[in-house]
Amino acid sequence: MATSNNDMPPIPTVRYAHIVGWGMAVPDTILTNHDLEAIVETSDDWIRSRTGIKERRIAGETESTASLGLKAARKALEVADILPTAIDLIVVATSTPENIFPSTASLIQNWLGATRAGAFDLSAACSGFVYGLDMAAQAIRSGSMQVALVIGAETMTRVMDWQDRGTCILFGDGAGAVVLKASNVEGGVLSAVLRSDGSGGEMLGIPTVGSEDLYHSDFSSNGHKMHKMHMNGGEVFKFATRVIAESIQQALVKAEVGIEDLSLIVPHQANMRIIQAAARSLKVEPELFAVNLDRYGNTSAASIPIALCEAIDQKRLKSGEYAAFIGFGGGLTWASMIIKWTGAKTPDARSGINQQRRQFGYMRVRFRTQWKRLNQQISNFIDRITFRRNRIQRLRDKVDQL
Ligand code: UT7
Repeated sequence: MATSNNDMPPIPTVRYAHIVGWGMAVPDTILTNHDLEAIVETSDDWIRSRTGIKERRIAGETESTASLGLKAARKALEVADILPTAIDLIVVATSTPENIFPSTASLIQNWLGATRAGAFDLSAACSGFVYGLDMAAQAIRSGSMQVALVIGAETMTRVMDWQDRGTCILFGDGAGAVVLKASNVEGGVLSAVLRSDGSGGEMLGIPTVGSEDLYHSDFSSNGHKMHKMHMNGGEVFKFATRVIAESIQQALVKAEVGIEDLSLIVPHQANMRIIQAAARSLKVEPELFAVNLDRYGNTSAASIPIALCEAIDQKRLKSGEYAAFIGFGGGLTWASMIIKWTGAKTPDARSGINQQRRQFGYMRVRFRTQWKRLNQQISNFIDRITFRRNRIQRLRDKVDQL
């Protein structure tokens, strides 16, 4: 708030939400198209020519949606040079949460030691990251928050039907995160257009144990396998090619930015042919799009932040340039956003003290978690001994009464 020099109430200053940190994490294990040839009837040639995908990453036994999200978040905080205690809000966009609750966001909040943050998961499938970014940006612009962490994290390979060659060849695991911060410098998130068409819900989904099948005994997953993803690829393809250009145009109009002003478009990484079709509709060169689906496949809500991280690291965005994000997927949902890039602190401008405090904080959380676990084990042990002792005492009492 700006202060005035008389008794008038303070004049609110215009606030902007800037991306000041970014980070990504993908598992080390690579599953190539050739590896898939041993699992389903497919070929490297078919997958490459129909999708553009060459390989994808698969989460290992000790990795999960939350652990990948945590890694990406720590990197983003590092770049932003911000302490976890400064975070007001954590949003995790995911279709593969650890639980229905506690949320994956709450798990990450605890592991980061973000003790002042609210946290929730957001379910909007592959559009989730853009939805989450817009929600966080709105909260910052309204003045109610200063710093938000938005994460897209997925372990899609855990919900694949490995007998369905129409879907299992497409998806991979990973996470990307950004830190949004309030600023009075013009730029950051300029506009967003969020849409949904629930009538297309049957086109792709993951039937799971939700309130519906617990409440209605006649719940049916419409012939789809429980906990496995299903998709009508052809219909989703048509939907995607229809909405991308239109949605980006709408967000550009809202931001009062021309298509010719865009330096980068970061699309959801579903299929190279979808991206090429979008480029034709928008009458722009395909090179304007950030593409990494050849190496990671479709990582759902994580695909836009992962592609954004790589594009930033490849210096595809300079301060003052404009970029568009476009997500589309289950729901059906789609969402586009225009940002004005302002960049972040250079590595040498970051505070060494903050770096040490973050590391110390992470160690403290690890110690606290292990301490809690040990305490729990000790109290379980004592309970067991007490229970046994009481039982023996009861038996003795019974014997005495005989
Ligand atoms: O993240 C959410 C958003 N998701 C998307 O945007 C995905 C959109 N959809 C797609 O990317 C494409 O529809 C797919 C890649 C899923 C499928 O490509 P397509 O060109 O639409 O193939 P299709 O489903 O029309 O199938 C063409 C043929 C069929 O054989 P017949 O009936 O022509 O003999 C399929 O059985 O290709 C066959 N086929 C395969 N062949 C080898 C389908 N999957 C495979 C496969 N390997 N993996």
